[in-house]
Amino acid sequence: MCGIVGYVGSKQALEIVVEGLRRLEYRGYDSAGVAVITGGELEMRKKAGKLANLEALLGEDPLPDSTTGIGHTRWATHGAPNDINAHPHLSGDARVAIIHNGIIENFAELRDELIAMGVETVSETDSEVAAHLLALALPEWDGDLAAAMRAVCRRLEGAFTLVAIDADAPDLLVAARRNSPLVVGRGKGENFVASDVAAFIAHTRDAIELGQDQVVVLTKDDVLVTDFEGNPADYNEFEVTWDASAAEKGGFDLFMLKEISEQPRAVADTLLGRINRQGLLQLDDMRLSLEEIRAIEKVVIVACGTAYHAGMVAKYAIEHWTRIPCEVELASEFRYRDPIVDSRTLVIAISQSGETMDTLMALRHGRQQGAKALAICNTQGATIPRESDAVLYTYAGPEIAVASTKAFLTQIVATYLVALYLAQVRGHMFGDEIRAVVDELSNMPNAVDLVLDTTEGVRELAREFADATSVLFIGRHVGFPVALEGALKLKELAYMHAEGFAAGELKHGPIALIESGVPVVVVVPSPRGRSVLHEKIVSNIQEVRARGAITIVIAEEGDELVVPYADHLVRVPEVPTLMQPLVSTVPLQVFACEMATVKGHDVDQPRNLAKSVTVE
Ligand code: M6R
Repeated sequence: MCGIVGYVGSKQALEIVVEGLRRLEYRGYDSAGVAVITGGELEMRKKAGKLANLEALLGEDPLPDSTTGIGHTRWATHGAPNDINAHPHLSGDARVAIIHNGIIENFAELRDELIAMGVETVSETDSEVAAHLLALALPEWDGDLAAAMRAVCRRLEGAFTLVAIDADAPDLLVAARRNSPLVVGRGKGENFVASDVAAFIAHTRDAIELGQDQVVVLTKDDVLVTDFEGNPADYNEFEVTWDASAAEKGGFDLFMLKEISEQPRAVADTLLGRINRQGLLQLDDMRLSLEEIRAIEKVVIVACGTAYHAGMVAKYAIEHWTRIPCEVELASEFRYRDPIVDSRTLVIAISQSGETMDTLMALRHGRQQGAKALAICNTQGATIPRESDAVLYTYAGPEIAVASTKAFLTQIVATYLVALYLAQVRGHMFGDEIRAVVDELSNMPNAVDLVLDTTEGVRELAREFADATSVLFIGRHVGFPVALEGALKLKELAYMHAEGFAAGELKHGPIALIESGVPVVVVVPSPRGRSVLHEKIVSNIQEVRARGAITIVIAEEGDELVVPYADHLVRVPEVPTLMQPLVSTVPLQVFACEMATVKGHDVDQPRNLAKSVTVE
């Protein structure tokens, strides 16, 4: 949720830290702050609101030159988003400054202990206790910040990434992580820590993925990783494949618009190199043995939000192509209902960020029950892929806009590849059948491009319906999760009531919501697929229309049967049934984006949201 960045080197730390915060602001934008060490003292500036407010403050009240600094952009959990609760937090003697992401679950107990010792706390945050504890631990550990950090971490419960600086050790950064993200960037004569690589890719692509319960000590020339006991610890080094421009707007007004437009490339990249010379599917990171794959009796998909909708789409393909039963579950519900999972279950965790806490916890729960875990993830160095038995990366590039777009399409593609691979290994499909589907998938970038070329009509519709109080979305089969996704986009961006329904459920309640003028977006299945589904949705369109709804019908080219019932018709290219979500979602993304723009909302950073939800 929060964004964290730290720098130690010989350049101006503040510039690098603020630039890193700009790239991480999508993680939270309730407040921002920075601290640097200069002349043996800590100097700090922090401000409620977006990073721009902090930048304005730094303009009025500049910080002195420094080569060591930390910065934070906050998504509030404990304490209102105001200046005092903004990070960094200082120890009482102003010797130590910390930034924190996560939730320290035992903070109340620790704070009471500190208060009993006469320590004054100034904020309402859980984070501040870490600053005071560190300052108290320093004398016990002969002023060794790393040793003090390890001792403090041993006392903390919950999820945390902490980065600390000490005025008495101006050339040092110490960071720690448990359950929250932290990556290290290794430069030449400079080093970085950050919540994700976007913060430092302009400076280095050499990165280190830290493990669970590790502390890293950074000077400009060295990186030392230990566990919380001080023992040397293993870590993974990797090269970041994104370049700095991938995390910039590149001429678009909004990240979301850029990311919508990148979908054809993202889908193509996710498919790249998956077929070997023998024409067989080859998933390089699929570290499950053929025996393990043959033993799978059930697939359980866990995910949140948009990724959950991708999982819902995947279920249709997995069951159709592999005949393995597949359940899709909201990760936040999964581990609280005693799910039936064992060593013959494959748990698939879908997560763009790879850090969503609910998804991580669901994955861990599955593994504890003996299940094998496969991550579908877009972010190198993230926790979910690291803790999984197997990984399939989506190659969407960094997704900065809070509203997920290209991640959704690539997650669908990745789950389809997994389904086909399972079908290949288990002999459910012939090689030529699999290649035919891969060929269909390979046509999807062009199909998505066609949709992108014809979005003006959708934008006009968004403008026309900007004053609607509610928009309903209905779909059947794979169109049902698309309807849910369309509604989610509208809620999070346009802040309006929007609901998605399985069209067959309408008569069981939701149709009572229909009154004169209510816009209903209908995701129409192909008439060439199961024509019965098409017939039924045509009836549903008539039913809502008869009750006064205004229908916005998303239907494939050549589907003439819907024309008489469509008040507004949005055409998408003719594609096979299971590929439809890849084209029919795109107009809904554009619809929500345009509607939010018309309403004057911040599209890339909608209110109350953060890109990566690293608390439960
Ligand atoms: O990073 P993840 O894919 O795990 O994120 C899951 C959800 O928080 C995310 O998909 C969210 O629903 C989207 N930002 C909505 O557009």
